[in-house]
Amino acid sequence: MQVSRREALTLGGLGLLGAGGLLVPLGSGLQAKSVSKLAVRNMPVPFATTFVRPPVLPFTLMEDSNGPYRLYTVTEQRATARIVPGLDTPVYAYNGSVPGPTIRVNQGTRVKLRVRNQLPAYHPAFGHPFNTSTHLHGSASLPQYDGYADDVTHPGDFKDYWYPNWQPARTLWYHDHNVHTTAQNAYSGLAAQYHLTDAAERDLLPQGVYDVPLTISDAMFAADGSLAYDDNSHSGLWGDVILVNGRPWPVMKVKPKIYRFRVLNASIARSLRLRLSNGAPLVMVATDGGLMPKAQPVVEYRHGGAERYEFLIDFSAYKPDTVIELKNLSNPNNVDYDNTNKVMRFQVVDESALPPDSAGSKTLSAMPTTLVGSDAMGLTESMATGRVSIRLQRSDVTNLFNISDKTWHDVVDSGYQDVLTVAKPDEVQVWEIENRSGGWFHPLHIHLVDFKILSRNGRPAFAWEQGPKDVVYIGENETVRLAMKFTLQKGGGATANAGGRYMIHCHNLPHEDHDMMRQFAVGQVNVNDPIASAPCAPDTGEYDDGWPAGTSPDASPDGT
Ligand code: C2O
Ligand code: CU
Repeated sequence: MQVSRREALTLGGLGLLGAGGLLVPLGSGLQAKSVSKLAVRNMPVPFATTFVRPPVLPFTLMEDSNGPYRLYTVTEQRATARIVPGLDTPVYAYNGSVPGPTIRVNQGTRVKLRVRNQLPAYHPAFGHPFNTSTHLHGSASLPQYDGYADDVTHPGDFKDYWYPNWQPARTLWYHDHNVHTTAQNAYSGLAAQYHLTDAAERDLLPQGVYDVPLTISDAMFAADGSLAYDDNSHSGLWGDVILVNGRPWPVMKVKPKIYRFRVLNASIARSLRLRLSNGAPLVMVATDGGLMPKAQPVVEYRHGGAERYEFLIDFSAYKPDTVIELKNLSNPNNVDYDNTNKVMRFQVVDESALPPDSAGSKTLSAMPTTLVGSDAMGLTESMATGRVSIRLQRSDVTNLFNISDKTWHDVVDSGYQDVLTVAKPDEVQVWEIENRSGGWFHPLHIHLVDFKILSRNGRPAFAWEQGPKDVVYIGENETVRLAMKFTLQKGGGATANAGGRYMIHCHNLPHEDHDMMRQFAVGQVNVNDPIASAPCAPDTGEYDDGWPAGTSPDASPDGT
């Protein structure tokens, strides 16, 4: 359906409220021109900016009684970004960078991430207390380092997070997870990629300049260039500007070679259906939990919030100056605007037109076919000793989304004791999750585990999902069956006493915040208390590991 400019403004300004105040589910293919209130001269136009990669975060090499570790420090702070022409956009971001700096570590590296909350006491635009909780999405972290929503760090405090990094190579991301304001905090800029590498991944996939992070998000702007926010009565926020690594619809120059793209959909609600303008294949090689057993070429694919897909594009057959667009064909229950069908552009250039490859760069001479298996992809239905069934729903009475009739409020009211299941350590379970509604899709995230999608509506998972996952897109009227193993922590710097409570939630962040989140436990419910066992502390600038006084000269610009 096409909507007039006037209706479009209503859509953006008032949310999808009908005359009686009832929430109207979004129709499929709903379209409007724009929602930002920017003057024409400030409205970004596609393909006018240059593609950039986020900075790589330096670290300091440290040592404790368990051996060496890397200390990474990020400061959550206000900064000014230049996203739209001619205007500044206030952002609240890790080290002021949108997206935040990429962390790159090899498997087996112990990492302590120090998060310093130097944000204003209240979010200047949205008004909520600017507490934060940092989740490393894709990491089997202990509960007290997993960004539990109520384990908050207040402005003026800091918290140290230990990450074990024993899992296979993968693209993770760290983002804010503060209770009930995750959407606003992540949207304001608190999101970044984290790359875990290992020998198999280095051997099989392009590296260095040919290994490209693509964090895609959408945004809407007020007339003064600040980020606007409207979650349409918690259905979701649909911006009219598509950003790649913080820039609107950028152009990336590429050599005629095979490139690897680590694509993260960091939109707080929008889902994507990506495709190249010339119909050339996107060769899928990795999903949320790392390498797929086999490469899967697809022409287009569906990509929900928080999912990570890594694909290869072969530019080698194209003549210099060939231009190929990465397009977004959209999915039901998104709101599309004039340019939300575009993401970015690749411009093939002669090799000599770009700097020589940096040290450690590697491309491939041919597309890979067989990759490597994983624990998750080896799981079968018959290994399962536990089963969980979940319904994803929304209540018209409360205007809240829920998981099998309960919300995070219910978890809080239970003194954090309410759990969906207590899995035994190393137990395999099959979870069946259904979304009977036609009005919403839900990208569901299960913390801690990698899972295998056994089926969707009784059929095999899509080709692009044939790898280890931690988010599953549960579309309208879909039911998925997942197999997962509740492997406990190994190492990580602090403790062998693993287990405890982990969140499960929709990764449409307005849904998560209102209030589609619950938890499960592994081993015991009351161990590694996620709130009490490693709380934040006042940030005096002095820390018990001696940093920054003892900042080591080993600080490296690149975590390899
Ligand atoms: Cu990416 Cu619980 O979140
Ligand atoms: Cu949802």
